[in-house]
Amino acid sequence: MSGNGFIECRNLRKSFGAKAVLQGVNLTVQRGETMVILGGSGSGKTVLLKHMNGLVGPESGEVFLDGLEISRMEEDALTEVRKKVAMVFQGCALFDSMTVGENIAYPLDEHTLLPPEVIRDRVREALALVGLEGCADLYPAEMSGGMKKRAALARALVLRPEALLYDEPTTGLDPLMTHRINRLIRDLQKKLTVTSVVVTHDLQSAFVIADRVAFLQKGQIQFVGTREEFQASKDLAVHEFISDA
Ligand SMILES: Nc1ncnc2c1ncn2[C@@H]1O[C@H](COP(=O)(O)OP(=O)(O)O)[C@@H](O)[C@H]1O
Ligand SMILES: [Mg+2]
Repeated sequence: MSGNGFIECRNLRKSFGAKAVLQGVNLTVQRGETMVILGGSGSGKTVLLKHMNGLVGPESGEVFLDGLEISRMEEDALTEVRKKVAMVFQGCALFDSMTVGENIAYPLDEHTLLPPEVIRDRVREALALVGLEGCADLYPAEMSGGMKKRAALARALVLRPEALLYDEPTTGLDPLMTHRINRLIRDLQKKLTVTSVVVTHDLQSAFVIADRVAFLQKGQIQFVGTREEFQASKDLAVHEFISDA
């Protein structure tokens, strides 16, 4: 049985060797909200995010997507899940030998039987959503870091997902580009009403984009609430994280 969340993590535990990374994570992401997961480097943010579309499976506990348990699904079924819940990887993960247009078309070529002209339209639509109109024929090497982040986002959007998982979307960007990407994440969430989960260690970004903030530390979610509640929290670990930032 599941509750009301669009993405629900229940008592997730995950270790690598002797290292217990997730030690009973509980987190509910509501449909349409932007949830930002904050935490220090190595706290398990990426590992947690990857549980949300089945790229990593838990040792124990469950992940529900729209009421359906995905944590013990076969790989075929997970392929369908990943069309609904797309991930924007930290390193962009674009193919250098392909143009941006080909990179963005790739998920459609792989996962759909859409005719080429429809794919071309969908690629154009995705590029427009991220402000990269007319860039389809560029190669990744010809683009700035910010443009690559946008292209990676367009590739996630092309399947018209219900949820987007962003891993450190502004890492390595200068302040202006960080601001633009943050605004883009917010605009997309409003325009497409897509559920968004954003992992970051950047407090400023979190405050710009979050409807709610979750704080991951010592393998558990220590806090969930609004930005205001987070800033006002009396929790010592939250306090430390804020003053370190
Ligand atoms: N595939 C893996 N194999 C072994 N250890 C891993 C693997 N993935 C993550 N870890 C370990 O899990 C911990 C949390 O990693 P990660 O989720 O990437 O942290 P964060 O994203 O918060 O910086 C780290 O100690 C990391 O070394
Ligand atoms: Mg990470």
